[in-house]
Amino acid sequence: MKRIILGDNAEVLPTLPEGFARLIYIDPPFNTGEPQKRERIRVVSTDGAGDRGGFGGRRYEVSKVESGSYEDDFGDFEAFLMPRIELALRCLTPDGSLFVHLDYREVHYIKVALDRLLGRKHFKNEIIWAYDFGGRSRNRWPSKHDTILWYTKDPNDYVFHFDEMDRIPYMAPGLVSKEKAERGKTPTDVWWHTIVPTAGREKTGYPTQKPLGILNRIIKVHSSPGDMVLDFFAGSGTTGESAIRHDRGFVLVDSNPEAVRVAATRLASFEPECIGFELAPPPPPSPPTPNPPIPPSPTPLPPPPPSSPIPSSDSSPDLSSPVVCPEVEAPLPIQVHAEPAEAVSSLHDFTFPSE
Ligand SMILES: C[S@@+](CC[C@H](N)C(=O)[O-])C[C@H]1O[C@@H](n2cnc3c(N)ncnc32)[C@H](O)[C@@H]1O
Repeated sequence: MKRIILGDNAEVLPTLPEGFARLIYIDPPFNTGEPQKRERIRVVSTDGAGDRGGFGGRRYEVSKVESGSYEDDFGDFEAFLMPRIELALRCLTPDGSLFVHLDYREVHYIKVALDRLLGRKHFKNEIIWAYDFGGRSRNRWPSKHDTILWYTKDPNDYVFHFDEMDRIPYMAPGLVSKEKAERGKTPTDVWWHTIVPTAGREKTGYPTQKPLGILNRIIKVHSSPGDMVLDFFAGSGTTGESAIRHDRGFVLVDSNPEAVRVAATRLASFEPECIGFELAPPPPPSPPTPNPPIPPSPTPLPPPPPSSPIPSSDSSPDLSSPVVCPEVEAPLPIQVHAEPAEAVSSLHDFTFPSE
């Protein structure tokens, strides 16, 4: 099954088959501190009269409940997310895993809520995805990581394909044998990985897109070929791309028409089933246009003004016009001192020699 569904996951989840997914990965929208209108939802299974059809002919009624009683946005986020996770649990196989991708503002609240929902024994790992890109705060430690919580439905029976882990280089390969250095070592719960490269093939342009490398690692280790993966905050479809490239099926759900359009375009070559929307066919190639006529030569530019004297050290330079280099009389190129392309360029940086 390769399916992309447009809709609020609260309404879609009850309609999905029970126990179909071996793995659920979600990357819900982080609470940014901005006021966001959100409702809580209530789903009740009914005897044949509900407004939503579900698997096996079951009917459900989904109603939205105002969430006015929370004192801040964080409480509201938990009220938004947890009922949706609860709905999704019925879609997991008995040995399935749940991965919840969060940031430092939300993770502690959701960890406690998940412990309450599933039980602490079901919590397996707190994975830190560390990256190093973008600006650096000067008044606190720059936040350069996300947190991914891993829970299993059964604390003792779950999928963990150790041999499917990618290997990462030793930081000091000279300290281990040649064979070990060549083989590399297995990763820990701290994953160094670049963000989606700005100019790379992977980039879809969808804000908040997560790197394939992170999803590849999760999908290879926590599911098997032929399994189904569910992502009900799917965005640009990273989970779907990783799943299909590793011979897994996927169900992607997103309430934003732009997200499902991006995901469907990205996955078009795998011919996903699109539900609740249609992917517009690409526009036909435009016919070749004859060469446009050459426009008449432009009016000559007036002579440049005489170059201004270099300001003395005690006067402020005039920044209102471009600096003109007296020799070439052309604007000086602006020097951008960007961060080194990416301080962390792959999963393989920053490993420690001791292992
Ligand atoms: C952080 S983005 C996911 C990005 C994704 N992991 C990727 O790699 O592109 C969160 C997504 O959740 C979607 N979303 C928010 N509320 C939703 C809801 N109630 N039902 C379904 N999708 C929702 C947003 O439209 C957004 O695309």
